[in-house]
Amino acid sequence: MKYTVVLTADYPSIARDILAGEFDVIAHPTEQARSEEEMMTLLAEADAAITLLSDPLTRRVLSSNPNLRMVANYAVGYNNIDVDAARELRITITNTPGVLTEATADLTIALILAVTRRLIEGDHEVRRTGECIWEPLHLLGTGLQGKRLGIIGMGRIGQAVAQRAKAFGIDVIGVRRGESFDELLATSDIVSIHAPLSRETHHLIDAAALAKMKPGAYLVNTSRGPLVDEAALCDALDSGHLRGAALDVYEHEPEVSQRLLTMTNVVLAPHIGSATEEARTAMALIAAIDVRRFLRGEVPLHVVV
Ligand code: GLV
Ligand code: GLV
Repeated sequence: MKYTVVLTADYPSIARDILAGEFDVIAHPTEQARSEEEMMTLLAEADAAITLLSDPLTRRVLSSNPNLRMVANYAVGYNNIDVDAARELRITITNTPGVLTEATADLTIALILAVTRRLIEGDHEVRRTGECIWEPLHLLGTGLQGKRLGIIGMGRIGQAVAQRAKAFGIDVIGVRRGESFDELLATSDIVSIHAPLSRETHHLIDAAALAKMKPGAYLVNTSRGPLVDEAALCDALDSGHLRGAALDVYEHEPEVSQRLLTMTNVVLAPHIGSATEEARTAMALIAAIDVRRFLRGEVPLHVVV
């Protein structure tokens, strides 16, 4: 009897190519923010699954199908999965670390440049007016050389951002998990977040943390939205305490707060940190190979639980 692998989205075709010969593969179209009920229906026949970072793998979902033995999350972050429940239910969880480090670090630098140089504002202006106007005091931004970038979370991605920032002549200060970041907040011209979402990091950047930031500083987030209190961020931008923000992730994805949508000093990207052909293909390869290893009785290479 063949094992059944459920793909909860349109992943790069390599995932299916790797699995289809050996297993029954059921592929579903990509959908945002599925409910627990939808997830349970989707996974009903699965022995293993490749899942999206927006798929809710709660205790209820994980325990709904006793045949489900393995979930490969198509992401490095796995805050969508109740890992305690998975551990108790003896369901193996894997993720896709490493291969999206460079892509996410590149996007972080793109966001820093876009917000400090007001690139999106400029683009909108050119499209709106149909003209390119050079004026001495027009669309002035902030230079990066000699400025300080504070990196919260010096894991793979944080380190890759630091490496790039140094090439721009930026002074980098980083903190690791558990370290105090008061000094980082107080002295950084740009603060960039590269920490996973957990109970401990939820609203890590709240109103109090924002108040500690240097006046005129920028906040960049390419990690997970709920690390930042989005309403408090809007307040800090509205009051002028922060000069700008560049976000790839949002507190209530897929929703983006209405207040952010009306602000010109924010750059809003649609969670595209890993969205290069190279990274997304490598993620599919990793996820599918780990599913195949697991179902063959081998140890997967990127086990979370
Ligand atoms: C993307 O956000 C990921 O965690 O891979
Ligand atoms: C800018 O376009 C310059 O030539 O200085």
